[in-house]
Amino acid sequence: MEFVRAKLARYINAKSKDDVVFVDNASNGINAVLRSLAPDIQKTGGKFLFLSTAYTMVKNTLLFVEGNYDEQLLQVNVSFAPESLEAFNSKLLHDVESALKAAGPKGSVAVASFSHIVSLPAVILPVKQLTALCHAYGTRVVIDGAHAMGQIPIDIQDIDADFYIANGHKWLYSPKGSAILWVNPKQQGNIVPTTISYEGQGASPFVVGFSYQGTQDMSQFVSMAAALDWRERLGDDRIMHYMHELAMSGAKILADAWGTEQLGDDGLTAAMCNVRLPSSDPDRIKLLTPGLLEKYGTYVPVWSLPFSSENAFYVRVSAQIYNDKSDFENLAKWVLELLHNGLSPERAASE
Ligand SMILES: Cc1ncc(COP(=O)(O)O)c(C=O)c1O
Repeated sequence: MEFVRAKLARYINAKSKDDVVFVDNASNGINAVLRSLAPDIQKTGGKFLFLSTAYTMVKNTLLFVEGNYDEQLLQVNVSFAPESLEAFNSKLLHDVESALKAAGPKGSVAVASFSHIVSLPAVILPVKQLTALCHAYGTRVVIDGAHAMGQIPIDIQDIDADFYIANGHKWLYSPKGSAILWVNPKQQGNIVPTTISYEGQGASPFVVGFSYQGTQDMSQFVSMAAALDWRERLGDDRIMHYMHELAMSGAKILADAWGTEQLGDDGLTAAMCNVRLPSSDPDRIKLLTPGLLEKYGTYVPVWSLPFSSENAFYVRVSAQIYNDKSDFENLAKWVLELLHNGLSPERAASE
């Protein structure tokens, strides 16, 4: 296990293998961090800042924390429009800074949480700049990197956050239930696992605590080494390059077939693209995800733009190493077919 932690630490450029521990998934890692920090923050009356685009699990964990410890949550709303990377990043940094300033003197916001890659829409956030900004206001930073490891390079020392959680089972190609939690050495004394047990091994109480969280299958953690070896053989850069190029050319295939467009420019996203659907009729749209699954064994999330006056629906499509252009061509065709033919019998009769 130490050997695997050492390989993973090198992969994300962590200083030491003992700053990296295994957790089952991003949910488990986020829970461990937020629920460990909550009692102390409650004593000092600090606030938790998060973005409206946070994964619902993060919001639910914060709501639990608030409910139990009477913490104050600070949500910063993120609006999206088809726009450039620079415009998106500078507006986001401006909005986060305004919230930090408005919260009160330095340290009023105790913790801020940001996705490295937002789930919906799939957008890469400027986590290094967000971290530096929060640190200037005395705020610790938790990065939810559930979608990042294997999709984009992670340089933990460069980001310089306090906590970083990353899944192996999304883009690294290790089995389900394989994820890591990195904690800055200065913060390790504050963090315990979600499940506290009684024994373990390791160089510090932090590592010992996470090394044994009750009886469980450890094979998925060990398998992360094989995933890293495989990636090294293929070339990590080549994998990421292939996926990004496919996501971008795939987005063009979809947008051309549907007469729509991708959300934002190429730099906003990595291997997942967001493309507007050729319908804004909620009755048709709601049949799409189940229709694709039932008829074609294909799953794509469908969502609408939050905090936008635009009545538009988008799909998020993942370009994995095992996909190619034909998958996007098929999706383009199937969506058109389902939108035109997939109406409920009552609706079709009234058309
Ligand atoms: C941004 C983000 N965070 C957290 C998660 C939760 O990951 P897990 O189910 O592995 O805990 C997801 C899952 O899709 C996600 O997209």
